[in-house]
Amino acid sequence: MKNIGILTSGGDSPGMNAAIRAVVRTGVYHDMDIFGIRRGYQGMIEGDIFKMQTTDVANIIQRGGTILKTARSKEFMTDEGRRKAYDQLTKHNIEGLVLIGGDGTFRGAVAFFEQFTIPAVGIPGTIDKDLAGTDFTIGFDTAVNTAVEAIDKIRDTAEAHDRLFVVEVMGRDAGYIALNSGIACGAEDILIPEQITDIEDVLNRIDNDERRKKTVHIIIVAEGDDYGGAKEVQARITERFPMLDVRTCVLGHIQRGGSPSYADRVLASRLGYAAVNALRAGNTQVMAGIVNDNIFFTPFDNVIKGEAPINPDMLELIRVLSI
Ligand code: F6P
Repeated sequence: MKNIGILTSGGDSPGMNAAIRAVVRTGVYHDMDIFGIRRGYQGMIEGDIFKMQTTDVANIIQRGGTILKTARSKEFMTDEGRRKAYDQLTKHNIEGLVLIGGDGTFRGAVAFFEQFTIPAVGIPGTIDKDLAGTDFTIGFDTAVNTAVEAIDKIRDTAEAHDRLFVVEVMGRDAGYIALNSGIACGAEDILIPEQITDIEDVLNRIDNDERRKKTVHIIIVAEGDDYGGAKEVQARITERFPMLDVRTCVLGHIQRGGSPSYADRVLASRLGYAAVNALRAGNTQVMAGIVNDNIFFTPFDNVIKGEAPINPDMLELIRVLSI
């Protein structure tokens, strides 16, 4: 295999650039030609493809975002869109692909490879950490650190004013950012999509805190929680405790940007290197992940159908540590 295409797709995540760098440099090391595909599957459809040199990836290991840009392509969800994409790959003589992204990226991959045959290896790049077959995804560590820094600041002002804060973090379908940032910041409650929210229980815990005169109460809610986001939770709290001073803060997209942590840079470098070697070895239609600190390959199908369940001990931990 001589010509490899690489793309980033779906929501960007800090460390994607480090992964691109590792793929390009490993490929060039093995005398391969690497073709960057801009804006994910959409760029593949439109033929937005260019040959990459090692200098294209100089000075990017520390940068957030993705130099290849990213997109969520509706057209790629159609047979016709995927046909156009395949024609572009053939036109550019691309014989293998490295796909960096999350759940949507691997769903796209499964549909594409049901229709066409082209060797591909995936790399998990999403802040949500909601993929099976890997202990970590590129960008998760950085996103949690960003959330932790913000929540610590919120705690300072919350304490100064004796306020209750509801902080909304990202995670449309997954509560990993909420869970980990919440534990790291000593949150009083954490509401996540994986668990049905018992709002009465949340209110009772506030009531107990009030009686015990706990001055700060921070609730972390993942954006995809079944009860709603920070605003809905705030409204219910204010309804029950009109005397409480309640504020919300939605952290939003700041969690997706910024310089990747050392952990994300190392993870991205290892997975980028592993993905190219897997392509060369013919180990394809798999995602390269990390399990118990070893590189582990999972078929695309299992990545999207498998589960990345929340450890129930973590939920218990919050209840115990927030007394
Ligand atoms: O990349 C994952 C994610 O950040 C989710 O946590 C979030 O729900 C979604 O992307 C937001 O997407 P967008 O940037 O399109 O608003």
